[in-house]
Amino acid sequence: MASTSLYRCVLITGASSGLGAEFARQLAPVSKALVLVARRLERLKSLAAQLEAASPGVQVHCLQADLTEIDQRESVLESIRSLKLEPDFLINNAGIGDYGEFLSSDWQKVETMMRINMEALTHLTHSSLAGMIKQGSGSIINVSSLAGILAIPDFAVYAATKAYVTSFSEALRIELMGHGIKVLALCPGPVHTGFGQVAQREEVSNVTPGGESVYVDAVQVVEEALTAIQKNKARHYPGKKIAFMAAVMSSVPVFLLRKMMSRRPRRSQSS
Ligand SMILES: NC(=O)c1ccc[n+]([C@@H]2O[C@H](COP(=O)([O-])OP(=O)(O)OC[C@H]3O[C@@H](n4cnc5c(N)ncnc54)[C@H](OP(=O)(O)O)[C@@H]3O)[C@@H](O)[C@H]2O)c1
Repeated sequence: MASTSLYRCVLITGASSGLGAEFARQLAPVSKALVLVARRLERLKSLAAQLEAASPGVQVHCLQADLTEIDQRESVLESIRSLKLEPDFLINNAGIGDYGEFLSSDWQKVETMMRINMEALTHLTHSSLAGMIKQGSGSIINVSSLAGILAIPDFAVYAATKAYVTSFSEALRIELMGHGIKVLALCPGPVHTGFGQVAQREEVSNVTPGGESVYVDAVQVVEEALTAIQKNKARHYPGKKIAFMAAVMSSVPVFLLRKMMSRRPRRSQSS
């Protein structure tokens, strides 16, 4: 990427790990300011120090917040205002999953997942738009998932939250077209990050979606996402195999998908 600043201020949620940290790494050389948000402040600070050392032109701000809490989201927005920053690029990346059947799921985890994957993303988007509209331009990447186009047993609520993210992003993109604001639904398949460990339940051993051959590297996912948003794409499935799988899933009649999913080996079931 060129060394000139493409972005004045990039707000990245879930930057302490995985895709969020990789977005920060790839955007630091082309941004004036980054605002990194997550609960694990030490991880954010250590990433910020590395980024500022590697890219002296960027200022990195770290904000500790549990984004499931409305008060903490408001504090993040207030901190950004008091830093006199106005994000022109929002990356709603923070999210969690939960592998296993719905019946035996832990309600607190389900509620947390819905809050972080949908409510926080929607709230931060809502709060960022006025500034972008005033500037006459802006970019939003909402991190969805390949799971968003398929109802997946043993991943039911997660897949539903990502269907929400994709649908919301597509509709918002059309609403905002006249304002110069780009909106991308990024829909990765499996990526090696901290996601699997958080999604894993104690009683379910070694559950990983798909085979190793469908995994895409986080660096590639983020490179493709940044190219896709610059091209003002509506939706992107990173990696050739994942894009192919998405195209097939989108063209198969829904009754066949139902049959396929009901024959799929169940990963965990309560006895
Ligand atoms: N990895 C995959 O296979 C995959 C595939 C498709 C889509 N995705 C999506 O990609 C996004 C990023 O996930 P990842 O794969 O990079 O996983 P990850 O390494 O576990 O990163 C998740 C990030 O979300 C943050 N987060 C979680 N709960 C939070 C909360 N309550 N408040 C604030 N931040 C919170 C975490 O930070 P703290 O724990 O420090 O708060 C962490 O930085 C997610 O939306 C996920 O659904 C992942």
